[in-house]
Amino acid sequence: MSDSRKFSRVCILGLGYIGLPTAAVLAKAGFEIHGVDINPEVIKIINSGRIHIIEPDLLEAVSEAVKTKKLKAALKPEISDVYIIAVPTPFYHESKKPNIEYVLSATESIANLIKPGDLVILESTSPVGTTEKMADLLKSKGVDINQIFIAHCPERVLPGQILHELVHNDRIVGGINSQATDLAAEFYEKFVKGKILKTNARTAELCKLSENAYRDVNIAFANELSMVCEDLNIDIWELRELANHHPRVNILQPGCGVGGHCIAVDPWFIVDASDKAKLIKTAREQNLAKTDWVIQKLEAQIKKLAKPNKDISIACLGASFKPNIDDIRESPAKFIIDAVKSLGVKTLVVEPNLENLDGYELVGLTQALNQADISIKLVSHREFEGVVCDIETVG
Ligand SMILES: NC(=O)c1ccc[n+]([C@@H]2O[C@H](COP(=O)([O-])OP(=O)(O)OC[C@H]3O[C@@H](n4cnc5c(N)ncnc54)[C@H](O)[C@@H]3O)[C@@H](O)[C@H]2O)c1
Repeated sequence: MSDSRKFSRVCILGLGYIGLPTAAVLAKAGFEIHGVDINPEVIKIINSGRIHIIEPDLLEAVSEAVKTKKLKAALKPEISDVYIIAVPTPFYHESKKPNIEYVLSATESIANLIKPGDLVILESTSPVGTTEKMADLLKSKGVDINQIFIAHCPERVLPGQILHELVHNDRIVGGINSQATDLAAEFYEKFVKGKILKTNARTAELCKLSENAYRDVNIAFANELSMVCEDLNIDIWELRELANHHPRVNILQPGCGVGGHCIAVDPWFIVDASDKAKLIKTAREQNLAKTDWVIQKLEAQIKKLAKPNKDISIACLGASFKPNIDDIRESPAKFIIDAVKSLGVKTLVVEPNLENLDGYELVGLTQALNQADISIKLVSHREFEGVVCDIETVG
């Protein structure tokens, strides 16, 4: 059956960091793209050939796709041959449980459009079993799921290189049955130059989560070591440099925590699914503890100044979750800045990658360093190279 399939019309649900570049890449590869987002502002911007996110070369790609009518965006999905779901999969901060409501609502929105032979792909990073839940939902809405193909194909792109990586990265494709896996693989082979690796949906789901948990655990090791070093009066950076001369050791860089909407979130999906995930849970907790540890260090320095908090200024260098980007989602640096503010001291936030930061007035590096009683480096942006702060949380 799959040999004769055509995938000319593709509906992409969710036009953010993943969905929009995917739309642009598929449009360039010759597909007709119907992009869907629940945010009317996003639709307006895209249909005018502009973009609402920052990503190199994306503006040119989207504007070309809109001009050639290969891409149009709308609030509602339309009948297509392939449906790709790339909506957010956050977690509930209190319970640390995954929130797959966006995925289910996007799935529901296509239920009455699906026809026999269609391919439905979940690209959002999802807890194990989500693809099966989509199938159950479609079935409950009257779709004959034996006549359609449902698969998970997680994304592993790096912001800043998304357009390149969408085409060149290896992709994992896992269907809810082998026919769905084969058809999804056939679809990706049409525009991906990397390898297409076939598995089942549950393995594909856990594979993506494991990749991010692997990073989290390894960063937690570095963060833990940095706190141990301080207790033992040993310089973590010298120690790391020396240890990494071992041919099979590669200690990652410690920082002020772990942020972003992937590594700081996805390990919780594994922790929620199995009580055997003890190391993964501890790593997540250690990375959060590192952020608290930095705040305590800062508080101790503030106390030493022996003057009212309102008369103290702190220069905070960096707010994003990693160097040289504008993304503050789950950013430990931003969390620390908020903690500083809640102490009633004056924050002098320097973030060269942002024009505004809600609740703060951004200041220049020189002004911040000149006015501050204490300076803290939270993110190693290229602009901060060579700047020495009172508290250094990054190398
Ligand atoms: N950004 C990355 O670097 C990256 C990398 C790998 C995986 N992922 C995963 O990809 C998924 C999407 O992430 P993102 O960064 O593109 O998110 P995003 O927030 O940038 O974009 C998601 C978009 O989906 C829209 N949306 C929400 N519900 C919708 C619905 N029912 N129908 C249509 N649109 C809807 C939102 O308005 C938003 O514009 C997440 O699961 C994320 O974990 C992201």
